[in-house]
Amino acid sequence: MTPDPTWVWPARAPASGGVRLRAFTDADVAAVQALARDPYVPQIGSLVLDACAEEAAAWITAQHGRLAERAGFSFAVADATTDACLGACGLWLRDVGTGTATAGYAVVPEHRGRRVATDALRAVTGFAWTRPPVQRVELHVEPWNAASRRVALAAGYAEGALLPGAHEIGGRFRDVVAFTATRPG
Ligand SMILES: CC(C)(COP(=O)(O)OP(=O)(O)OC[C@H]1O[C@@H](n2cnc3c(N)ncnc32)[C@H](O)[C@@H]1OP(=O)(O)O)[C@@H](O)C(=O)NCCC(=O)NCCS
Repeated sequence: MTPDPTWVWPARAPASGGVRLRAFTDADVAAVQALARDPYVPQIGSLVLDACAEEAAAWITAQHGRLAERAGFSFAVADATTDACLGACGLWLRDVGTGTATAGYAVVPEHRGRRVATDALRAVTGFAWTRPPVQRVELHVEPWNAASRRVALAAGYAEGALLPGAHEIGGRFRDVVAFTATRPG
């Protein structure tokens, strides 16, 4: 039986600017630990705060299962030249039956401020359009998160409404701004 193309890992790494998106590897443990030292990153995903090497390795293993469990694609954001892991970027398809995917991203603190997140979001959004059921990609950004709002706008997302208490972050339902990219006509 032909596998559903929505759920096939890309044969070619999605890329934009200076980054490409690939699977996490064991070589990324230190980068994942660096991500886990930003107290906000564990609140928006499944990493534990201040993950030790074993916890980071377990998190990487869990990312390898995200496709099989039909959660979505969990990519490492890699430097296109050195392949070093600069961050994480996910395309989540749990609600793809409605045409909507969501995306999320985080950059290792020492690599911030040089468009890594913008490139990663452009790459993952382009990748989303290779999956036929995806009609729109949404981001949910807390209003205070100016860097993430700028990333969304730079990657071509349209800013939408403030959604009160719409998203559980760090165990609390928080207000988020919805940003949307729509499948190009
Ligand atoms: C948000 C985040 C992903 C940005 O990563 P990054 O690689 O530094 O982002 P980029 O370099 O592509 O762009 C950041 C933009 O925000 C701006 N910026 C950075 N910090 C800022 C701040 N405190 N206030 C306002 N703007 C800020 C930068 O100048 C840049 O804008 P520009 O391109 O117009 O100059 C990173 O800060 C991060 O990982 N934060 C923690 C996780 C997180 O918040 N994820 C998003 C959840 S919705």
